[in-house]
Amino acid sequence: MSQTPEKPLIAAALGHRPSRYPAWFMRQAGRYLPEYRAIRAKVDFTTLCQSPDLAAEVTLQPLRRFDLDAAIIFSDILIPCVAMGQALSFDKGEGPVLSRPVRSAADLKALKRPDAGKDLGYVGEAIAKTKASLQASQTMIGFAGAPFTVASYMIEGAGSKTFTEVKKLLFTDPSTLSGLLELIGDVTIDYLQMQVRSGADILMLFDTWAGQLTGPDYRQHVYAVTKRVLSSVRTLTGVPVIYFPGQGVDKMYELKDLEVDVISVDWRTRISAAQRALQSVGLNVSLQGNLDPQTLIAPEALLRDRVRTLLEEVRATAPRGHIFNVGHGLLPHTPPESLTIVLDELRRFQY
Ligand code: CP3
Repeated sequence: MSQTPEKPLIAAALGHRPSRYPAWFMRQAGRYLPEYRAIRAKVDFTTLCQSPDLAAEVTLQPLRRFDLDAAIIFSDILIPCVAMGQALSFDKGEGPVLSRPVRSAADLKALKRPDAGKDLGYVGEAIAKTKASLQASQTMIGFAGAPFTVASYMIEGAGSKTFTEVKKLLFTDPSTLSGLLELIGDVTIDYLQMQVRSGADILMLFDTWAGQLTGPDYRQHVYAVTKRVLSSVRTLTGVPVIYFPGQGVDKMYELKDLEVDVISVDWRTRISAAQRALQSVGLNVSLQGNLDPQTLIAPEALLRDRVRTLLEEVRATAPRGHIFNVGHGLLPHTPPESLTIVLDELRRFQY
């Protein structure tokens, strides 16, 4: 095997075993940190994402507190929707709201096709500013939402429990759904390339709502465009890519021939089950995850025990490589001290 890259996270993504176990937390910047809330008290979320100095500052906040191997650029998967012409707001803790939901061919036609360099350049600037403060061993993570997950918000106009409007479009007007997915796909390829030009060392594609589709619907409507995005950015940029298919192991069986370096495993799925499913379709990738983020509210002894148990399961599973993480984003009530405990337990582990 070639020489081990100097960034432990990149090394693990490419299937090496670095001497230091790479770790970061999904949503490691955010409301559980008082220093984040102090900034948010002065500026709304979208403005924060669009201000490179503030976004870089918030990205670096968790790295000042914790012994982390990566920074993930502070932004949101819905930021490109703003560049496509939808207004983004957060209504009284109700989650994201997008104006002018896309539910017909005419709605689709009214969307803009942004130029990432011009219309989303502030994300690139934030990446460049953040990267200048990282150590050589730390990894700069760029990201975007996967086409289906972004489309779900664009169609529903908000979060949803049932995704009724998405399913309606899928059943009654699949060509509009497909047009939307392909447009998001094109925008995402351009956007992620821009992030790498700005300094991202690895890219992550969040498909949080993949589990809302049946396997056959995922395969028929979503697989090809997702594969196109992952393959294109991997080939065009040369950096490794991570794919997070949220909620459940069943989607792993649909991922045959996906060109990806790392699969991020949802906390609801056992690492060993994910590995078996991926191997059954011939995918030999590194894994990321997957501590239940709610474990961080547990008493210290239990939390340490859960970290060790996970690491032992990973060792027994022996994936190609492993990046330690939670299996979904940290929640606002997470005690910051719990991250210190998790990382301390990880550093004690011999693997
Ligand atoms: O630290 C990081 O991980 C980087 C920043 C990041 C955010 N969102 C910041 C954010 C990342 C990677 C995301 C991804 C994201 N956004 C996903 C995929 C990952 C996942 O969690 O499943 C999704 C589905 C979204 C859409 C979204 N944006 C939701 C559901 C919410 C939460 C709404 C709420 O009020 O809880 C957001 C808002 C958001 N994105 C916040 C943060 C820190 C909270 C906004 C605030 O400060 O009020």
